[in-house]
Amino acid sequence: MNPETLNILRCPVRCAPLQLVTQSSSHGGALEFLANDDHGVKYRIHDGIPIFVEREQITDLNNKYRNIYDRAAPLYDFISKVGLFVFGLSEEKIRKEFLSALEIRPGDKVLETSVGTGSNLRYLPRDAKYYGLDLSWGMLKVCKRKLPKMGQRAELFLGEAENLPFTDSSFDVVFQMGGINFFSDRGKAIREMVRVAKKGTRIIIMDETEKVARMSEKIPGIKVWFKDRREPIAAPLDLIPDGMEEVESRDLFNGQAWFLSFRKPA
Ligand SMILES: C[S@@+](CC[C@H](N)C(=O)[O-])C[C@H]1O[C@@H](n2cnc3c(N)ncnc32)[C@H](O)[C@@H]1O
Repeated sequence: MNPETLNILRCPVRCAPLQLVTQSSSHGGALEFLANDDHGVKYRIHDGIPIFVEREQITDLNNKYRNIYDRAAPLYDFISKVGLFVFGLSEEKIRKEFLSALEIRPGDKVLETSVGTGSNLRYLPRDAKYYGLDLSWGMLKVCKRKLPKMGQRAELFLGEAENLPFTDSSFDVVFQMGGINFFSDRGKAIREMVRVAKKGTRIIIMDETEKVARMSEKIPGIKVWFKDRREPIAAPLDLIPDGMEEVESRDLFNGQAWFLSFRKPA
């Protein structure tokens, strides 16, 4: 792990700095962990990806969706392309339009919470540093495999968007596309995006609308994502922390997605 990344990591529970620890395994290889002995915390690193939350620690909606995305991961890119096509949308077009709202400069540190299989990274400039967090090991595994094929690099982390393992004000750009409608705690996830963003950062978020959920809950294979939702989907404008500037909320793609954007004060 590069020292610059280690510098911005913190324990998501104790909010304490972490050190990289290497131990020899019983098979003669080396095992790496991120740990803080004073706080008694230790996170394993598997296949180069730090694991900040273990399966048994995930509850409520996050547990439901982690299971869904883990199962869907190998087919996720295909399912989403076909799903968007059914709704008359081009994946490339929606990603490019959404991502065009980002303000990425060369060398910036860019965080995507819920990076999934990393499809957005394909459309982003190569001269920034990307960090992707997701709750699903299956999705991250696909993402890791795709990165070299896309000619892109990113550091990946398994964790909950509600408890980001990063220090305050670490990122120049923070964004979220998809998934947040069904997070266990959407407000906490948005507050975490604000916490880890540097002052002056524009944060953008997008997810599908109730209109899409109503149609999708009837389609076999897709309905599992949408059925039994607790309430109709709406852009969580009320969950944006007080004091944010340039708050903007609108629908995109013929009312099929909601879009929120706001700036952390400088
Ligand atoms: C619809 S996919 C979007 C993936 C990617 N952003 C994209 O645009 O293709 C939603 C992602 O959110 C992740 N996710 C769901 N709940 C999460 C949570 N509480 N914290 C972090 N990731 C979460 C899922 O594992 C899944 O990869």
